[in-house]
Amino acid sequence: MKSVFSSVRIFAATIFTLCSFNLFAADGDTNSPREKLLLDFNWKFHLGDDWPNVLRLDKAGQNSGPASERFNDAGWRTVNLPHDWAVELPFDKTSDTSHGFKPVGPGFPQNSIGWYRRTFDLPASDAGKRIWLDFDGAFRDTTVFVNGWEVKHSESGYTPFRCDITDVARTGGKNTVAVRVDATKFEGWFYEGAGIYRHVWLEKTAPVAIAPDGIFVWSQFTNFAPRFVPPYDWAIHVQTHLLVQGVTFSKTNVIGIHHIIISPEGRGANGSSGTSIMLNHQTELDSTAAPILMRSPELWSPESPKLYKLITTVDLNGKIVDRQETEFGIRTFAFDPDKGFLLNGQPYVLKGTCNHQDAAGVGEALPDALQYFRIAKLKEMGDNAYRTSHNPPTPELLDACDHLGMIVMDENRLLGSDDENLRRLETLIRRDRNHASVGIWSICNEESTQTQPVAGRVGATMQNLVQQLDPTRPITAAESVGDVFTGLPGALEVRGWNYHVGQDMDNYHREHPTQPAVGTEQASTVATRGIYENDKTRGYVSAYDVNFPSWAATAEKWWSYFAARPYLSGGFVWTGFDYRGEPTPYAWPCINSHFGVIDVCGFPKDDFYYYQAWWTTNTVLHLLPHWNWPGKEGQQIRVDALSNCKSVELFLNGDSLGKQAMKPNSKLTWQVKYAPGTLSAKGFDDAGNVIAEQKIETTGDPAAVQLAPNRSSINADGEDVSIITVSVSDAQGRMVPTAGNKINFSIEGAGKIIGVGNGDPSSHEPDTFIAQSSAKNISFNDWRWKLATVPTRGASAPEYDASFDDSTWNKTSSEGENAQLKAGQSAIFRQHLKLTAEDLAASAISLHFGRIDDSGYVFVNGQRAGESQNWEDSPAYSIKNFLHEGDNVIAVGVNNASGVGGLVMGVNVEFPGQSVAPAWSRSVFNGLAQILVQSTKDAGEIKLTASADGLKPMTVSIESQACTPRPSVP
Ligand code: GAL
Repeated sequence: MKSVFSSVRIFAATIFTLCSFNLFAADGDTNSPREKLLLDFNWKFHLGDDWPNVLRLDKAGQNSGPASERFNDAGWRTVNLPHDWAVELPFDKTSDTSHGFKPVGPGFPQNSIGWYRRTFDLPASDAGKRIWLDFDGAFRDTTVFVNGWEVKHSESGYTPFRCDITDVARTGGKNTVAVRVDATKFEGWFYEGAGIYRHVWLEKTAPVAIAPDGIFVWSQFTNFAPRFVPPYDWAIHVQTHLLVQGVTFSKTNVIGIHHIIISPEGRGANGSSGTSIMLNHQTELDSTAAPILMRSPELWSPESPKLYKLITTVDLNGKIVDRQETEFGIRTFAFDPDKGFLLNGQPYVLKGTCNHQDAAGVGEALPDALQYFRIAKLKEMGDNAYRTSHNPPTPELLDACDHLGMIVMDENRLLGSDDENLRRLETLIRRDRNHASVGIWSICNEESTQTQPVAGRVGATMQNLVQQLDPTRPITAAESVGDVFTGLPGALEVRGWNYHVGQDMDNYHREHPTQPAVGTEQASTVATRGIYENDKTRGYVSAYDVNFPSWAATAEKWWSYFAARPYLSGGFVWTGFDYRGEPTPYAWPCINSHFGVIDVCGFPKDDFYYYQAWWTTNTVLHLLPHWNWPGKEGQQIRVDALSNCKSVELFLNGDSLGKQAMKPNSKLTWQVKYAPGTLSAKGFDDAGNVIAEQKIETTGDPAAVQLAPNRSSINADGEDVSIITVSVSDAQGRMVPTAGNKINFSIEGAGKIIGVGNGDPSSHEPDTFIAQSSAKNISFNDWRWKLATVPTRGASAPEYDASFDDSTWNKTSSEGENAQLKAGQSAIFRQHLKLTAEDLAASAISLHFGRIDDSGYVFVNGQRAGESQNWEDSPAYSIKNFLHEGDNVIAVGVNNASGVGGLVMGVNVEFPGQSVAPAWSRSVFNGLAQILVQSTKDAGEIKLTASADGLKPMTVSIESQACTPRPSVP
């Protein structure tokens, strides 16, 4: 491909001088100061708001409790991110139904606030760099502290946020980040999790660098802009937003920006563009490169997800200061009022699913491998589109859609044109607009005000902002009203239809023929995997595609309707996967939805094959139900064939039960007198040739456990996951579709179990098991104290003795910041510690002080345990040797030289314990369960064993392969 260079348009408030730029080795030079390090590993976590007064409103950089650098978090649990603490809690019938009966949120203050802490070193060589902490998302209301400074408060549970910590970070030393996450309030009506459930990154750049989300690359088919044809077909546009600090205006300071494009096959430059900018006094600069023209590029589509790479380098006076790679796709998305959705100018039917974020075993905290697994599973069904209902997704979901080929309707959380809502919308668009997969923006879902004129005005303002930020993608909203044009429906480019299969859509289309339409949310069919009779007591609904709430429809009904109307563009099923919360039609004991075509683990329900039959070009023949019905001999059982064959013939134990012709987008049904044995079917083409066969056999009793990993080799990066199907089979190896055996798991080697699930919407078994630790941490803050002379150099005094009577002394607490002493005062503090023989069996016992201000001497039962001479330390003393069973006395003599002082910021006694690995188990539900095994950073074999009472156990081996993990903070 020929390279094209040209000058550039610069958009900035003040005058720039354009210089010709020198041709750099813009692609090859990776030597830029930019570093993006994963900050997911080894956080300390504490559940509970034990420090309500951390945030100081009177002084900066002095926040206390866990926000303080001196806080001792040794007793906290170690967790890796992404992390969702809600999934770890037991189910509770008194908690919110729509959030899946987890005791978090309103009414559960004890479980709704969590703290995370992490320390990291920054080398001295980072001095002068710009340093960021990037949070892909946390649920919710998050406050971030670095080295005691508050650096961010972000309320949204879905919008990513960044903290520029350059000023407060310590280069050449230790830094402490503390994060308070408050999930007291809900944002939705579905399970939302709690905690830092997405990745966190530490980013470093030069002072002159590409701004966060500072690259926007988009493509245009030049036939729509005739000035470029011929000879070029496509124009690639690149905008760059730069941050500039530390260089001053001077005629000799020139910034160069260079872009080159690498082909999907990784071949060199497919085109390039560049510019030079003379610096002015601005700290932010925008530049738009001359379009890069390309002839017949490889277009991105779900069927052929070809990704190009843009490499941008920034230099300052010829020295590279930044380099960034941006993947993108070349394609167009549009809607036509009659032809429906257009991909690359051609009608393209959206066969989509809406999805929430959670998955079995891990709640909202999905490792990236699980995102890829889920997108691949949807594609297997023929799904080509994904709606991120009802919130901005995690970026890794979009990566999976870019790479595997899935068009995304990227949805904003709320309708709102106030500053904060527009900021969130802008953050979403800027972050996601380079993704090849993102095809349509949705500004909100089913707002109750949607038909009011105010909603139309608010929506129009939002649409206007989106159009400014992204001229390439259509805009819609998920609207749940019928033939109504006022308010939001009439204000937006594309009419989104939630439900209302029937006359409304046709009427609306006739009345508003120039407005395109899409089925933003359809179906809401309910089904439980492997269940063929409704059972209110157990909370199950049959999987025959017959159950749906009043507003909804069967799979067959909505899809037949949409398939017949190209103007509707296809639509999105509510939902692809089951999700926690919104149990419908039953509540407790049901804790998750039944809307999924696939259960929470990823096991298909029968409707999966209905969609597969009509959404793919594969030959599909699927029979339901299973054929294990002891006690129903001679009774009629409904048998359905889901198929795209022209006709299907059904057989029971070899006898034909008749052949039926299949109508497009439908299914076939027989009533069959049950007899155990083999139910089978043949599928025929138009000419009567057999093109598919399927059989279901009555199985024997459960005899063995089977394990089938989706991948038996994973990366030893501490992140990768093997998703293992657990099944119970009969002696002949056939999955027993009614089995419910409880399976126990054990693991050895270089991996760990991170979650289990089984798709049972009424299971109250834990999804996750936490290592139990015998460690104990006692808060030790209720002191008696008296102003007294403290003997010099730690000499003993009667007040330090265990037998001293302090009952007339005043009481004080060392918990907060309330210092007891004025400048020049000294005092002795005493407190009793009662210990059992079991306590004393701990390998060590240590006493931790938040602060002894200014200096002090620590005595245990009259014996000197240590001293502290620096008021900024958080001293700790090993005291086991001075303790005995029963009553012990800790006494501290404190001298306060200046300011206020005393015993402050918490004292605690720690008993380190042994961590006891949890015993993982899960019952299979209708024969199946799932277990997620994650690699550690050590390469080697992982051995997972599954066993159950009376069943033959199985061990499976997974190889964790040495790899280069992505760079992370040590
Ligand atoms: C829709 C709503 C979804 C879900 C669904 C259940 O109205 O947008 O979030 O609640 O109903 O059918």
